[in-house]
Amino acid sequence: MDLPLPASPFAAEAARRRTFAIIAHPDAGKTTLTEKLLLRGGAIQLAGAVRAKRDARHTRSDWMKIEQERGISVATSVMTFERGGLVFNLLDTPGHEDFSEDTYRTLTAVDAAVMVLDAAKGIEAQTRKLFEVCRLRDIPILTFVNKMDREGRDPFALMDEIEKTLALDAAPVAWPVGRAHDFAGTFDLLHHRFLPVDATEADAIPLSGPDDPRLAALVGAERAAALREEAGLALAACPEFDLARFREGTLTPVFFGSALRDFGVGHLLDGLARYAPPPRPRAADSREVAPEEDRLTGFVFKVQANMDPNHRDRVAFLRVCSGRLLKGMRLRQVRTGRQVPVNAPLFFFAKDRQVAEEAWPGDVVGIANHGTLRIGDTLTEGESLNFRGVPSFAPEILRHVRLEDPMLAKKLRTALSQLAEEGVVQLFRPLDGAPPVVGVVGQLQLDVLQSRLKAEYGIPVGFDATPWEVVRWLSAGDRAALDRFAAANRRDVAEDHDGALVALFASDWRRRRAEEEWPMLRFHAVREQH
Ligand code: G4P
Repeated sequence: MDLPLPASPFAAEAARRRTFAIIAHPDAGKTTLTEKLLLRGGAIQLAGAVRAKRDARHTRSDWMKIEQERGISVATSVMTFERGGLVFNLLDTPGHEDFSEDTYRTLTAVDAAVMVLDAAKGIEAQTRKLFEVCRLRDIPILTFVNKMDREGRDPFALMDEIEKTLALDAAPVAWPVGRAHDFAGTFDLLHHRFLPVDATEADAIPLSGPDDPRLAALVGAERAAALREEAGLALAACPEFDLARFREGTLTPVFFGSALRDFGVGHLLDGLARYAPPPRPRAADSREVAPEEDRLTGFVFKVQANMDPNHRDRVAFLRVCSGRLLKGMRLRQVRTGRQVPVNAPLFFFAKDRQVAEEAWPGDVVGIANHGTLRIGDTLTEGESLNFRGVPSFAPEILRHVRLEDPMLAKKLRTALSQLAEEGVVQLFRPLDGAPPVVGVVGQLQLDVLQSRLKAEYGIPVGFDATPWEVVRWLSAGDRAALDRFAAANRRDVAEDHDGALVALFASDWRRRRAEEEWPMLRFHAVREQH
C-alpha cells in the first residue's frame, strides 16, 4: 500500500492508533475474545486479569467480589497492545447490564467496536442496546460470529437478522466451511484464502476462489461443495464489503470464528488493523478538533475510585483527542478554569510491563486526583473548548437513602456527592428541600452504593421507595417556561449533581401527559454532560 507520509509526528502517531471496544450480550464470549486478542499482542499478564475479573463477576453476590472486581477493573479498563506497528487500545466495557451507563460512556471514547454474537443466539437484548449507542455516534462496527465450533444458526439467517433487527448491512468477509463439530475453518471471501481451524494465520492457504478444486483435497468433497454453493450465494445476495460505508456506520463486515479455540481472532485483528479508523476529528462546542493538532485536548469519560478506602483518590480516564500528553504537564480543566497537574499519569501499555512516557490521540491515560476531575470534563493546554457527547442516562430506579443514625446526615451528604461524581449513582435534590433521591440504572448499582457507604464511609443505610419512577432532564428555548413549570411542580422538580433541572414523574403515563401539556419544554432521557 502506498500511503502518503503523515505530515507531523502527531499525525503519524494518531494514524497508528486503533481505539475500540467489544460489545456483546453476557456469555457471547467477550472475555474469551479479549483474552485471545491480548495474547496475540503479547499482553499475557493482562489476559489473566481479564479472566479473573470475569470469574469475580460470575459470583458477584457479596461485597468482596464487587471489591475484587473493582480492583481488577482499573488494570483492565484500558488494555493497550502493539501489533504490526499499530497500537491497539481496547477499552473495557463492564459486562453486567446494571453497569450499562458506564458502558455507554466508554463507547464515547472509542473509534470502532467489535460486536460479538453467539452463533446459536444471534442478536440478543444487550447487543441491541449497545449497538444503538454505537449507532447514535456512527461508530463503525465489525461483527464476530463466535462459537462456530458448536451447533449454531444458519449463517444466512444471522446475516438476515443483523440486517433486519439492526438495519445495518452485513457483508461477510469470511464464510464458514463445515459447521459445529464438522467446522474446518473459514474461506476469506475478500482475499480468496482458506483459513484452517487448527493452523496459525501464517498457514492460510491461497486459492483461486471458492470453487478452487484444491479445496476438496483440504476439507473433503462434501464440505467443499457446500462452500462453493454458499459462498456463491453469499457473494450474490449479501452486500459487498465497502470501506466507506463501514466507516460511516451503515455496513458491518462479518467474521466467523471461535474465541475459545483461538480461531478467526487473527483475521478479526487484521480487519481492525486494515479497516477500523484511526482517531477522527471530534466535535467540541466551539469547533472541531483534529487529532493531528499539536496542542493537547482530551475528555474524561470515566472516573473510578482507587482501592484504598482511606484515601478518596480516584482515577479519571482521559481520552486524548489531539496533541501529546507528557508526564508533568499542567492542563486546564475547562469547566472550572483550574490548572490540573499531571505528575504521574497511568499509561496502560501492557507489553512486557513497559512503561509508556507519553500518550497520543486515541490513547487513554489514567489521572489520579482527589475528586477534581469529573466525567465529561475537557482538559486542554489552555484553550477554552468542551467536547460534547459524554451522556448521562435517565435512571430507571429511584430511591431515598434511609439513614440508621441521624448523626451521620452531614457525612452522608458528602459521601453521596463524592460517589455521584464518580458516576456510581446519580443524585437529585428536589427544589422544595426534600431529602435527595438517588437514581440508578440497575439494582446492582444500589448494592454497590450500600456496600461502599458502609465500608468506605462507615455509614450503614437502607433504601426506601420514592413517589417517583421516571426522570427527565428539562430544557426550553424560553427560560421563563422552565421557571413556570418548576413553580407549578415544585415538589416534582429537582436539580441533578451538576445543577441541571429534572422533572420527576410517578409513572410514564404522567410523563407523557406533562409532555403534552408543556409543548414548549423538552424532556430528555439522555443528557450530555457539560
Ligand atoms: P462473556 O465475557 O461475553 O460473558 O463470555 P465468556 O467469554 O465468559 O464466555 C461465556 C462462555 O462461553 C464460557 O463458558 C466460554 O468458555 C464459552 N465460549 C466462549 N467462546 C467460545 C467458543 O468459541 N466456543 C465455545 N464452544 N464456547 C465458547 P463457561 O462454561 O461459562 O466458562 P468456562 O468455565 O468454560 O470458562
